[in-house]
Amino acid sequence: MMRAHWGTRLGFILAAAGSAIGLGNIWKFPYITGENGGGLFVLIYLGCVAVVGLPIMIAEILIGRAAQSSPVSAYKRLSGEDSPWQALGWLGVVCAFVILSYYSVVAGWSLNYIILSLVDTTHGKTPDQIGGIFDTLYKSGSANLLWHFVFLSLTVGIVYGGVQRGIEKACRVLMPMLFVMVGALVVYCLIETPSGFAKAFGFILEPDREKLTPRGVLEALGHSFFTLSLGMGAMLTYGSYMSKEDDITRSSLWIVGLDTLISMLACFMIFPFVLGHGQVPAQGPGLVFKTLPIIFSTLPAGLLVSLVFFVLLALAALTSAISLLEVSTSYFIDEHEWERPKAVLVTGVITLVLGVPSALAGGGGMLPEWEAMFGMNFFDTFDYLASNWLLTFGGFATAIYAGWFLPDRLRREEFASGSRFGKLYPVWLWTLRVSPVAILVVLLYKVGLLKV
Ligand code: TRP
Repeated sequence: MMRAHWGTRLGFILAAAGSAIGLGNIWKFPYITGENGGGLFVLIYLGCVAVVGLPIMIAEILIGRAAQSSPVSAYKRLSGEDSPWQALGWLGVVCAFVILSYYSVVAGWSLNYIILSLVDTTHGKTPDQIGGIFDTLYKSGSANLLWHFVFLSLTVGIVYGGVQRGIEKACRVLMPMLFVMVGALVVYCLIETPSGFAKAFGFILEPDREKLTPRGVLEALGHSFFTLSLGMGAMLTYGSYMSKEDDITRSSLWIVGLDTLISMLACFMIFPFVLGHGQVPAQGPGLVFKTLPIIFSTLPAGLLVSLVFFVLLALAALTSAISLLEVSTSYFIDEHEWERPKAVLVTGVITLVLGVPSALAGGGGMLPEWEAMFGMNFFDTFDYLASNWLLTFGGFATAIYAGWFLPDRLRREEFASGSRFGKLYPVWLWTLRVSPVAILVVLLYKVGLLKV
């Protein structure tokens, strides 16, 4: 069977940017920036993205395009049928299931808030009561299961359509919508709370050395992996649908640039609200689902703002979820020669089931032994495991593989093919070879061998 390819270069960039731009940009980046005091943290994050994120992004796409296949088969093709590197492909597939299973639950909350924005549940309520809406949702097993199912069905529906007629087509429509909505919300903030906007500027752009801890530096590096969808074969899989005439470096610059832009704009549409209405930016994960609805309820046209915001969040999550599902789906297509419909439905059902404990995590009684053993619920365990360990380790191993084990001739040719940046090969290779050192520091710190 001929391998599917992207219809256009723009289609690939939008799909890959869609994978990168997700809850990590709109939900997580603003609150970790808040926790780390803004300014300097943002600067360090930008450094991590440029020096570690970009070279590994290029490496992942390059491996995928060179092999023209999804993670497990890609390592086999490039390094031999029984190469131990195929374990890295396996890690990617496992990661895809794990991340999508809980990602879908969070995305489901935004679907729920879209409905809440339509029926106005905040009218005449106190801030505590509005915050309580989220607590009720979080604890309701049936609501969580329902939204998890709805969100996953949307994802399955798109991936079912295939690379060009499903993923690319959806991203070509959804991504421009997302950009327009982000822009509209930033402009709204600027008009509605100019004072908050000015405060946000100061908060984000003024380096504040006091509040940044070494821990924050490591968090910045870890997040640069998560937000760029690196370390688990998602970019590799998308790269495998790319043609030899396309410019990998240029596309990567676009993807990384768009992802960073949206993260920054997300700060400029959340902090003006938060700072301008006397709230504190370091609110943890509740920032989006509790603090914002409270502020929205006091704004003129607040319900419309709320609607736009949560549609935006759902779209960002959807285009990321698509790429997660594509990793596991393409595994079954490439390795087991399944037809796409069968592969999508089977992976969809597995993810649905795997997400059940996360959907029920807020219910209290679910799996108390688990909570006792790990000190956190199922949902948090998955998130912690994936974004702290699996992705970091995956990125580390990918950089080592691409930097040291990929045959040099193939690597050089692939880097130059279709690219106007061919001359930068030594710069890229050098950065790629050094990047694992930075990641190793993070890993050592995490296992407690390094104290900062
Ligand atoms: N990048 C996504 C975000 O910012 C999350 C993510 C991490 C992801 N790894 C991924 C998405 C792999 C798709 C594929 O929210």
